[in-house]
Amino acid sequence: MKKHLISSFVLLCAVIFIYSCQKETNKPTEKLPLLPEQTYDYNPSDIPDHLRTFNFTNNEDATLGRVLFYDKQLSYNNQVACASCHSQQKAFADDVAFSKGFSGELTTRNAMTIANMGLTNTFLWDCRSNRLEDMVLLPIQNHIEMGFENLTLLEAKLNNISYYKRLFTKIYNKNRVERSDIAQALASFVRSINTKNSKFDQGFQTNFSNFNADEMAGFNLFHSERLACGNCHVESKGGQGDGYNGPAGNGFANNGLETVYKDKGVEQARMTISNGEGFFKVPNLRNTELTAPYMHDGRFKTMEEVVEHYNKGIQSNKDLDHNLIDKMTGKPKKMNLTDTEKRQLIAFLKTFTDKTLTSDVKFSDPFNY
Ligand code: HEC
Ligand code: HEC
Repeated sequence: MKKHLISSFVLLCAVIFIYSCQKETNKPTEKLPLLPEQTYDYNPSDIPDHLRTFNFTNNEDATLGRVLFYDKQLSYNNQVACASCHSQQKAFADDVAFSKGFSGELTTRNAMTIANMGLTNTFLWDCRSNRLEDMVLLPIQNHIEMGFENLTLLEAKLNNISYYKRLFTKIYNKNRVERSDIAQALASFVRSINTKNSKFDQGFQTNFSNFNADEMAGFNLFHSERLACGNCHVESKGGQGDGYNGPAGNGFANNGLETVYKDKGVEQARMTISNGEGFFKVPNLRNTELTAPYMHDGRFKTMEEVVEHYNKGIQSNKDLDHNLIDKMTGKPKKMNLTDTEKRQLIAFLKTFTDKTLTSDVKFSDPFNY
């Protein structure tokens, strides 16, 4: 009898142990997302033409994408959501150099803002993805970020969550959650995150007549041959909307952070240029005021530090971009910016700030109520 009691006790402990492990790892929890009766309009008619994205967002897709984006159940152990590293309050970036993934381990690169992603086809610091629908599934399977070994596991998990069954059936008319639909919904939501209310965007149609003297002087410095910022952080034309979303030419460049890079950057560049190193995506400058720290490794804490890098910190490197080399001496440029010029340049960069993005309810957390 005593033996029997002990073994039942052991069995009970084992059950509790297994149950609590499951809870910590993969078991779905069911706080329901709170969605508006009438879906939000993710394509408001007042988006200026220069911000119209390649693929117009579908409101239903974006509504589901919003739920997925904020749902911690998209990580293996329910610890992080996309929004943990791309936080609305921080203009969809993170305020640390490296972000904490599902198991507490840190990412190896800085989480960038994900505004205006519809205007580019080059994603991630090493440009390894060129389609947003593919890209959004990468963090879910990343061993540091969200930790799913494969997408079949994710599909199985979401298939067991009642609100996903409902939402996927309603939107895609299937009673199964499938990865292609997860991708479409997430990409659609991400694409809808646009910075239409920045001073820059409002001035775009009127030759920036809304800029003050400092901002205009900064604009001109940015586009001058002396600084050449605008040759890389390009204002793209011809149907791709405005730029400052990165890609000029190849979409990546070496901006002289190191003489020898630890993180070698874009693989494709390293293959084309033998042993090329230090090529990184020319990043999106949208909301740059709100997305510190800066660069692929978050090395600069302030915009002043970034400007000081270009002003007199550019390192010589065999792959340093020609825009940052002094044509006379063949050495890294010294820009000799005065304090006034630095202030003007930063005033211009601040025209990319759109604080309405950080509080717009249609981009907010539907689980937070
Ligand atoms: C643990 C933190 C973390 C989580 C969770 C996370 N990300 Fe990211 N995200 C990053 C980091 C770090 C980068 C840059 C990685 C790199 O370039 O190698 C990034 C880059 C991106 C980019 C590329 C932006 C650009 O300009 O190229 C997009 C888009 C993006 N993430 C969307 C998502 C989505 C959607 C999810 C959820 C499915 C997600 N992220 C989850 C940290 C995270
Ligand atoms: C040769 C091309 C090139 C030129 C010229 C250039 N940049 Fe950059 N910029 C880059 C690249 C590439 C990165 C990312 C580098 C990295 O992380 O390794 C970057 C990063 C930045 C960032 C950080 C963005 C973030 O979110 O981390 C800012 C701000 C910036 N540049 C502003 C400027 C300004 C201002 C100028 C002119 C003084 C300038 N850039 C000139 C290519 C360039």
